[in-house]
Amino acid sequence: MSVVGLTSLGRCGAVAIRSSVGMVAVRYAQTAAAPASQPRIKKFQVYRWDPDTTGDKPRMQTYEIDLNTCGPMVLDALIKIKNEMDSTLTFRRSCREGICGSCAMNINGGNTLACLNKIDTNTSKVSKIYPLPHMYVVKDLVPDMSNFYAQYKSIEPYLKKKDEANEGKEQYLQTVDDRQKLDGLYECILCACCSTSCPSYWWNGDKYLGPAVLMQAYRWMIDSRDEFTEERLSKLQDPFSLYRCHTIMNCTKTCPKGLNPGKAIAEIKKMMATYKEKKSAAV
Ligand code: SF4
Ligand code: SF4
Ligand code: FES
Repeated sequence: MSVVGLTSLGRCGAVAIRSSVGMVAVRYAQTAAAPASQPRIKKFQVYRWDPDTTGDKPRMQTYEIDLNTCGPMVLDALIKIKNEMDSTLTFRRSCREGICGSCAMNINGGNTLACLNKIDTNTSKVSKIYPLPHMYVVKDLVPDMSNFYAQYKSIEPYLKKKDEANEGKEQYLQTVDDRQKLDGLYECILCACCSTSCPSYWWNGDKYLGPAVLMQAYRWMIDSRDEFTEERLSKLQDPFSLYRCHTIMNCTKTCPKGLNPGKAIAEIKKMMATYKEKKSAAV
């Protein structure tokens, strides 16, 4: 779309520009004469703890940032603090676009991704940033994900076939309808925001698999190409792995990708009921 005419100069330096297809776009002219904007100082309180410093105790540290010189997301503020104010601040991040899941943390009381979470521009309010709750802390905002990953591994998150003789020889195809059943499940980035917002996971995180891992268990159970559905269900038949979910739905509320792990767990419970009926009928 090429720009062909400058049509008007309005108040506050707003410029209306008419394009070749007749649309009017509004841009703000930035001129040397524009007055310097007032600083917008925002306070961030960040959880700090360094296990390598003898005697260090967890504490909140306050940083002040002029929002005029910072990007719009909380991750931008953390990067600015680390680059310009305090290089000892430790956090994880990689993609900066909600794909890798590594910047999951608790911001102003909710678990979310720092790179997708906009800074609250109300400068009278302090933004509080903690690591994901109820996790062991490695340092500052970095939680220990070992238990979470071990639980993920335990559900065998990959395609399993009874007969492995044909493995690698041809593609395992599925219908468009069967493929669509995986929508809303495969997009999970394993950020753990949901699991660490779940009260049942807080109290029984060693035995209850939690919403993120259970949703992935469900993803493989309903994959039309997988042949281990019953075995996958049978592995969850104990009082803790699945049944500690009490449908509180914190998980679904907090998911920064808009997924619904609570629903996936409910679907596993339904499958489990059918599986149990089938098993007792066979006895
Ligand atoms: S629905 Fe289940 S998994 Fe989700 S927060 Fe509630 S108890 Fe936890
Ligand atoms: S379901 Fe959502 S909150 Fe939970 S791990 Fe996946 S992306 Fe993160
Ligand atoms: S940096 Fe990758 S999800 Fe935030």
